[in-house]
Amino acid sequence: MRAAHFRLPLAPHAALFPTAVPAGSPPPRMPESASRRDVAIDWTRCDFSHGHEGGRVTSHFFNALSLFFPLGEKFFVHSVRHYRHAIRDPRLARDVTVFIGQEAMHSREHREYVEAMRTQGHDPDACDVRLLDRPLEDVTPEERLAITAAMEHFTAALSRSMLLTPNFEQAPELRKLWVWHACEELEHKSVAFDVFREQIGGGWRGYRMRCVAAVTASRLFLPQLLANHARLLQADTGWSLLRCRWAAFRHAWLLPGVLLRLLPDFLRWFRPGFDPADDDDRALLARIQADPLLRPVFAHDDSRVSGS
Ligand SMILES: [Fe+2]
Ligand SMILES: [Fe+2]
Repeated sequence: MRAAHFRLPLAPHAALFPTAVPAGSPPPRMPESASRRDVAIDWTRCDFSHGHEGGRVTSHFFNALSLFFPLGEKFFVHSVRHYRHAIRDPRLARDVTVFIGQEAMHSREHREYVEAMRTQGHDPDACDVRLLDRPLEDVTPEERLAITAAMEHFTAALSRSMLLTPNFEQAPELRKLWVWHACEELEHKSVAFDVFREQIGGGWRGYRMRCVAAVTASRLFLPQLLANHARLLQADTGWSLLRCRWAAFRHAWLLPGVLLRLLPDFLRWFRPGFDPADDDDRALLARIQADPLLRPVFAHDDSRVSGS
């Protein structure tokens, strides 16, 4: 059975000017309204093969992405939490609390997502979801924080791209999950970067470290994402592995080119003066959070402080 789809109320021109800063106050580093929010997903209503109107190729791209979040978000939380008690700026300390709370909830929901995939007969365990090619003990806290800051920028860019895509439509439960997650990624997009800047510094050493981290993270993450996408697709369709690899590659880099579209954002990271908070997402967040399906999620303030 094919679930009903909903259309996000997006302005057609929005995708062209995602980072335009309106006249007036500069965007805050984190919106005042940002908080840890609970969300209840009815996994029995989620179809992991046909949840997206783009069909199985698109559905399994989101599934492959989801597989990384339980471990990935945990990694991000640990990286930032390591510096939590050394943070000097009280405003940043508050933002870190919200960041940890939000990421912990994302990790929990994506664990349930993966479990629900298993229930429906998919095999997420056949996929490799390691973020690094060396043991965690070999990675210094500084490197971990730099990787987290870079990955948070990419996650925010992907989230913005997703929310600005006029045909980003999914079955309601899955859409609720992805839109909730994407909105919170935009809310806390600069937190890891700010911790990195305060604790490691923004000079040449910090710049070099965050550039190396971005290259390392994408070199490891992107091939795994595509390989997992192809694996899930093959198991579900019975197509040859070659066909599935081509489908995953095409989806990422050609049509619709979900990763290709992120290339400008990837390159912006290497600008010495780059600051994720320069991207003004206030109008986008306000529009998305007013969506009737999402309003109950964003109206509920679960906790602004208990993110430990
Ligand atoms: Fe997240
Ligand atoms: Fe995040």
